[in-house]
Parts: sequence; structure tokens; C-alpha cells
Amino acid sequence: MIIRPLSEHTVNLIAAGEVIERPAAVVKELVENALDAGAGRIEINLDNGGIDHIQVIDNGCGIEAADLPLAVSRHCTSKLFEDDLVNIKTLGFRGEALPSIGAAARLKIISRVKSAESAWQISVEGGKIINPSPAAGQMGTQVVVEDLFYALPARRKFLKTARVEYNRCEMIIQRLAISHPDVSFTLIKDGKTVLNLPIQSQKDRILAVFSDIHDEELIMLNFDRGDLKLSGFISAPSVNRATTNGQIMVVNDRPVADPVMQMAIRVGYRQVLEKGRYPVAVLFLQLPLDQVDVNVHPAKTELRFADEAAVRALIIGSIQKSLAIGAGVANVNPESLHVFPTTQYHPIKASIQYPAYQQRMGINNKEFIQEEDACAGDSFELEAGLSFKDVGDTLSRFPGKKYQKTTATLPLGYAVAQIFKTYIVAVTEHEEFVIVDQHAAHERLTHEALRQQYLEAGIQTQPLLIPEAIEFSAVHYCCLMGFKDSLADLGIEIESFGEKTILVRALPQLLGSISAQSLLIDLAEELQDKEQMSVNDIESVHTQLDAILARMACHNSVRAGRSLNEEEMNALLRQMEATPRAGTCSHGRPTWLKWSKKDMEKLFHRS
Ligand SMILES: Nc1ncnc2c1ncn2[C@@H]1O[C@H](COP(=O)(O)OP(=O)(O)O)[C@@H](O)[C@H]1O
Ligand SMILES: [Mg+2]
Repeated sequence: MIIRPLSEHTVNLIAAGEVIERPAAVVKELVENALDAGAGRIEINLDNGGIDHIQVIDNGCGIEAADLPLAVSRHCTSKLFEDDLVNIKTLGFRGEALPSIGAAARLKIISRVKSAESAWQISVEGGKIINPSPAAGQMGTQVVVEDLFYALPARRKFLKTARVEYNRCEMIIQRLAISHPDVSFTLIKDGKTVLNLPIQSQKDRILAVFSDIHDEELIMLNFDRGDLKLSGFISAPSVNRATTNGQIMVVNDRPVADPVMQMAIRVGYRQVLEKGRYPVAVLFLQLPLDQVDVNVHPAKTELRFADEAAVRALIIGSIQKSLAIGAGVANVNPESLHVFPTTQYHPIKASIQYPAYQQRMGINNKEFIQEEDACAGDSFELEAGLSFKDVGDTLSRFPGKKYQKTTATLPLGYAVAQIFKTYIVAVTEHEEFVIVDQHAAHERLTHEALRQQYLEAGIQTQPLLIPEAIEFSAVHYCCLMGFKDSLADLGIEIESFGEKTILVRALPQLLGSISAQSLLIDLAEELQDKEQMSVNDIESVHTQLDAILARMACHNSVRAGRSLNEEEMNALLRQMEATPRAGTCSHGRPTWLKWSKKDMEKLFHRS
């Protein structure tokens, strides 16, 4: 056996396998180079999904003619200072991309530095460098990659259709564009401009890239934890997707695909999103360069954090805090989040009572409505009449009741009608039309109230007038009796009453008069899965508890199909505004929908 070094060309081909496995990877490397070169404008041309032709043009610093052969040589880079692999500020640093591309495709670079009289060009074909020669070209660099993998037919076979390859390229460009809103991007697909992004604010860039997301659906984030800084935008829970494609994570200006961060986003949304649905989230994490290792994989999208737990805690905490807002608003400044439910938006003055609703809820004023001395702002008068007529003029149609006008307007507006005994129709002062699913909303309010009671003093119980004896299946019986003490913490008092019979003595007061049997069967089902649960797993204990509280909330006595009077409807709207996470039900479905007058006009082709 003879050991010999591989030829440079073979080494490059091997690297090409790792660094540029498809057109999107070439696009990524070339755009990263343009960004590293300080470009303010980047244009990308793709033909046939990038398989036939990729061209990236930038107005960055350019490459000196004498450096061109080095640029396409392996392990040659202008970016690592004194071979310091810790303080890496640039997107590239391995000096692998251009030689790998040159080994696998036809590569041409035309570049001109400021001081040069003309541009210079260099080509590489199948690993062979063709010496630099003068060429016509603007300041900056133009890289053309043609016939990708012509030198690696086996790999070419693995490419998907042009459409699939194009979509991957587009996704990479979106990520890079979002991470650099201070750079303008143009994307031309088969000769047609499909993306044209001027230099813009971070938020405008996100909205331009995710064209299906609206301004008011984004919640701004801005939190610190020691050296870590997290900022960005996340979507209101009702704006969600079937994949994580709407999630973009940028660490120290580098778009990354990091499982730790991805998991943290999931946990952050757990209380408000259905399983299998993913939010839109664009998170920017800044941390000292020595706290993160980017040299984990040739593609440089994977990371290793020195303190993974701190990153996770920051992301989860920031998301949960930002989502703990009442219904009706998505976009609020983080600073106002803490005061929002109690002072700023406190819609109900102590003088206004909603006795019918509270009795039915089985709660007193204190649970949902914190008494405040006075609300800022003046009050306005609402007149009589609850009908579908003249909805536009709603505010003048309510009975002579005084609602307190708060400093901010009420996001969910005032109820004008109930339809199908299920939905509340409301109108806001800003000519918006709101529909609320009363059952979904009520379920979330109950869930949050149960959670709050559980965390504060334990769930309040209400003894049954006559304890109820219920027979269960053997499995359910064992499960329920096994969790007897935990159930007591949840406000459910049970005791054994024979072989398979359980005597129910008390139920949570919040749930009103419900069927003890169906609640307990439901809980037995929920608890059954938890028996194997590891007690050490804090994360899962919280998930379980929340799932159990959500199940209990499903059993509240108010369901769809109940007529609500106007006071009750408005009370529900105000409580939704004041209750964290009330924008979605416990299963992650939205509790309310809103249309502006403009939206309505569009529907009727009036605009
Ligand atoms: N668009 C560009 N503008 C200016 N210089 C570039 C550009 N693309 C590549 N270069 C130069 O070529 C070198 C090699 O590029 P590359 O193979 O991607 O490795 P790396 O980016 O890791 O340094 C870079 O270090 C840089 O000096
Ligand atoms: Mg590079």
C-alpha cells in the first residue's frame, strides 16, 4: 500500500462535495463573499434554478489582479487575521468556496478595485486556472458560475428539478437579505426580476421578504441577558405555518440553522400554538465572538454556543414575555408589555360591573379584573340599541352606559351583536370589524385563570352539594387514584368508593357546574400518557401541567351556543384584552379576527 498526497484538484473536488452540494450553496458562498467585501448592492442572476447559470454582481472592494489566482486557490483567504479562529467577524474564513466551485463548474471572476484602471478576469474550468487578463467591468466583483457539476456527473444526477433548486436558492437569498437590510438585493430569475429590495429598516426588510405577513402581525423583541442581546420580530401566534421555513436566525450577522435556537422558539410558543404549527420568527442574537464557535461545519451554518443554556433561556423567556399580551394587539413595544394588562389598557373601571358574567364564570372581580382607582382619559357616552343597522356608527348605539375611555383605544372594540350564539361581532373606534369566537376565548380565559390560581395559591375548589359517586374503567380508576394528590392540587377532590368507583367531593370553582365524569375521564386519558414521564424533566412537567389545565378549561360550563347579552359580550372582550395569551385558544386557534374598513371595501371592490 502506497500512501501519497491527493492532487490539489481531487482535494478541491472532495471539498466541493461538502461546501457546494447544490446551486443554493454556491449562491450562499458568493453572496457571503459580496457581503464580506462590503458591498452595498448585490445582484443575483439565476437561470434554470442556478444549475445552468449563477451570476452574482457586487459593488464591494474588488480583488486586485495579482490576487485573483490566490482567490481561486485552496485555503487562501484575506479574512482570517493572524490565523485567529476565535474572533471571526466575516461570513467566510475557510478559503474553500471559490476553489471548490472552480473544481466542479465553470467559474469566471471579473473584478476591479478602486485604484485599478480596468477590471481583470480569471477563469477556472474543471480545476484548471486560466491566467488573469484585462476585461471590461465596474468597480466591484462579478462572479459567474456555469454548468454546475459538469465535472461531477454523478452529483449532477442528484440535483432536483430547476423549480426545487430555485426555491432553495431563493430561501438562502431571503435569509441573507434579512440579515443585511443595509444592503440592497436584486434577484433575477431566468431574466425576470423577482425580488428588488432597497436598503431599508430591519422590519421593512422582513415585511418585504415575507410578503404574506402584515406589519401588525409582528411583535418586536428586544431583550438582554448578560453579554447576550436578542432582538427581532416574531409573529402573533395566529400567524403560523406548517414548516419552520418562516424562521430565520441570525447570530452575529450570520444566518444560521441552529437546533438549540429552533427548539427554544418552539418552547416559547408552546402555550399558544397547536402541535405541528410553526411561527414566523426572525431573531438576531449578538454575543461576544469567543462565546460561539462557527467553525463546526464547512457550510458555516451550524454553531456551538459556549453557554447553550443561557441562549435557550433568553430566547424562551423573551418569546414568552412578548406573547403574554392580551387579545387584540400584536405589535406592542416590549417596554409596555409589563404594564399593559393592568394599567395602560385597563379597560374596565371598578364602577362598571358585569355581575351576570362573573357569576356564571364563578369568579369574583379580583381574578380577572384588577380594580384600579381610575383610568386615565375621559369617558364617553354610549347610547341605546343593539342591532345590525348602522354598524358604522356603533359607538353611539349602546344603552346609556358609561365606558371608560382609556389612553389607548380598545383593541377589540365594542360588541354590536352576537351571531349563531357563537360569535361576537364588535366594531372598534378605528373603523375595524372584529369577530370573536366566544367559546375559544372563554376557554383561554379559564385556562389562564386556572394557571394563575395554580401558581399563586392553588386552584380554588368548590365542594359539591352532594358528592358524586362515579364508576370508571379499571384503567381510569387506577390512574385517577394514583394521581389523587396531584388532582387535589388542581382543585379536584376524589376518594375511593369501592372497587372501581370514585367519590368526587369537590371540583374547581372556576369551571362552574360541569360533568365530573367527563372531566375525570378526560384527565385520566391525559394523565395516562404522563405516567412514564421523567420527573427530572422540568420542561416536560410544565408542558404536562399546561396540557392538563387546558383540558380542564375545555370543561368550563360556558360553551358555544349560549346567548350573551351586550354587557356579557363586552366583559368578555375586555377580559380578553387584559388576559395574557388570550389571542389564541388553548389549542392555538385564534380567538378573534379583525378587518379594517379598507379590507371590507376591498372585499366589495369599492376601492
Ligand atoms: N465578491 C468578492 N469581493 C471581493 N473579494 C472577494 C470576493 N469573493 C471572493 N473574494 C476574495 O477571494 C477570497 C477567497 O474567497 P472564498 O474562496 O470564498 O474564501 P473565504 O470567503 O473563506 O475567504 C476571499 O478571501 C476574498 O479575499
Ligand atoms: Mg467565501
